[in-house]
Amino acid sequence: MPANDSLMATLSGARELVQTHADRRRGNNPVAIRALHSGDRELLTMILERLGPRSRIQRFLAPRPAFSGRDLAITSSVDGWNHAGVIAFAGSPALPVGAAYYVRTDDHEVAETAIEVVDDWQRRGIGRLLIAELRVRALQAGIRRFEWFAFESNHAVAALARDLSDRRSVRVGDGVIRWSAEIC
Ligand SMILES: CC(C)(COP(=O)(O)OP(=O)(O)OC[C@H]1O[C@@H](n2cnc3c(N)ncnc32)[C@H](O)[C@@H]1OP(=O)(O)O)[C@@H](O)C(=O)NCCC(=O)NCCS
Repeated sequence: MPANDSLMATLSGARELVQTHADRRRGNNPVAIRALHSGDRELLTMILERLGPRSRIQRFLAPRPAFSGRDLAITSSVDGWNHAGVIAFAGSPALPVGAAYYVRTDDHEVAETAIEVVDDWQRRGIGRLLIAELRVRALQAGIRRFEWFAFESNHAVAALARDLSDRRSVRVGDGVIRWSAEIC
């Protein structure tokens, strides 16, 4: 099945769909991104399990040989407003390859975010696409700032942050930085 048809079959019925292309190194591969739904626990598990040990540490700031219900909690609380996310599909057959989420904090205009892209699909532009989509949805929900934690050595996160304005970073210990940036 051609890659495009496979993606469309995977996503048929999805309420929101963004179809685009990303792959600066290996030519164009179709990537589809849609909102995260409450039934996506299995898809999210597939993504987390395809993160290698280094990516797991970067994502959770600690080793994660296995995942707990807490790691997947966003799928049971997603409401598209206070808790929302986006999920990307690529390949043929199409598989989930990345996700990004936000959870609104007590400050109504600030949300905590996290992102992951499976190892095999990193550095092909999917992280940037996910953040761009998440940002649009967060703005619609009245969010003005994203905050996130990452290791100081996580250059991919620093590169993604360059797209956002009024960036602030504070060292919080053990090589971890608390980032904050405007998304307006
Ligand atoms: C962070 C992450 C989501 C980025 O996803 P990605 O799909 O690889 O990102 P992109 O391909 O869109 O690249 C975005 C930018 O990061 C840069 N980048 C990506 N991986 C990099 C790496 N290993 N080292 C240096 N720069 C890197 C890219 O060059 C690009 O910057 P540019 O446009 O200025 O060239 C991915 O690396 C990942 O899942 N890491 C593990 C989990 C994690 O660290 N999450 C963040 C903490 S919540």
